[in-house]
Amino acid sequence: MKIAIGADHAGFEYKKAITEFLQEKGYEIMDFGTDSNEAVDYPDHAVLVAKAVNMEKADLGILICGTGIGMSIAANKVKGIRAALITSSFTAESSKTHNHANVITFGSRVNTIAEVLSFIEIFMKTKESNETRHQQRVDKIGKYEVENE
Ligand code: RB5
Repeated sequence: MKIAIGADHAGFEYKKAITEFLQEKGYEIMDFGTDSNEAVDYPDHAVLVAKAVNMEKADLGILICGTGIGMSIAANKVKGIRAALITSSFTAESSKTHNHANVITFGSRVNTIAEVLSFIEIFMKTKESNETRHQQRVDKIGKYEVENE
């Protein structure tokens, strides 16, 4: 499984820790920066990760900024992306079961790195629900996206 990862200056330390954590588990990581605390614009990194997922070069995207909010807003502008901001074990699980998230975002100023790694573990082991109501809602997200083009 290939995972695209990106961060801004507020998230790059978390990106490093998440990358090591996932590589140890055998995941292949595609790193889209940034790699220092020099200020960058989070949408520039969000779009690179989101496009890798949209083009099926990666199976999942992970984005980190200070809040996780900017990254999720920016990633959701890319076609086919369902980016979820995860702040708890509950949202880690339900973003997979209910929303079939293909990009997950985190805030380095919201959760500790230990919490974020535990949320990622929960997300990875959770399966998308194929119950009709969830699938129907996810399908509608894609449908509305096309209608608004
Ligand atoms: C950068 O200071 C901060 O605005 C950014 O990391 C993020 O929190 C935006 O949503």
